[in-house]
Amino acid sequence: MIDSARKELFDNWALQYDEAVSNSTGQYPFDGYDNVLSALVRLAEPRPELMVLDFRTGTGNLAGRFAIQGCTVWGLDFSKTMLEKTSIKFPKINLVHADLLGEWPQTLPTTFDLVVSAYVLHEFDTTNKVRLISRVAEKYLKPGGRILIADIAFPNESARVAAARRWRDNWDDTEHYWVAEEVLEVIENT
Ligand SMILES: C[S@@+](CC[C@H](N)C(=O)[O-])C[C@H]1O[C@@H](n2cnc3c(N)ncnc32)[C@H](O)[C@@H]1O
Repeated sequence: MIDSARKELFDNWALQYDEAVSNSTGQYPFDGYDNVLSALVRLAEPRPELMVLDFRTGTGNLAGRFAIQGCTVWGLDFSKTMLEKTSIKFPKINLVHADLLGEWPQTLPTTFDLVVSAYVLHEFDTTNKVRLISRVAEKYLKPGGRILIADIAFPNESARVAAARRWRDNWDDTEHYWVAEEVLEVIENT
């Protein structure tokens, strides 16, 4: 079931999301937002024959980069306002209104070449990050498909602590920003 207070928060944010991320130079956490999305797309090597799912697509800034390259793109989000923004900017993207944490609709294909996501998984602790990635890999990816994730991440715990100090005015202690050393160990043992 969709948490309506949280959904409303994102519905409201949708109205100025693009402006907020593009005016974030030098500001935590969206400094370099465009470069981060571009780096993911470069790694993905988009081609028209690829089927791509972007989960928690927001206003479509990542999904749109694949749509422009001719890929068949699906975007999932629980905010109708975010999805409306995406459909205006990128009318060819197939949009799914669903809660990532609930059941995903039967209409969503299960044969993606690529599953991508940006600025999303830091909401989950390591166990739930790995659980979600495993669910996507098992249910929605073609054999040989890839999952590419862009997010707020640090190489180790001391880098995360240093960033928390530097950006203390914007830092959100309830989020679970990635610590590569820790997550890699869990993934290797999963
Ligand atoms: C920080 S925005 C990131 C949007 C986009 N991926 C980007 O890189 O710009 C997070 C998005 O996740 C969506 N979202 C949050 N919780 C969700 C949930 N439980 N299910 C589906 N979407 C959710 C919000 O509506 C919002 O669009």
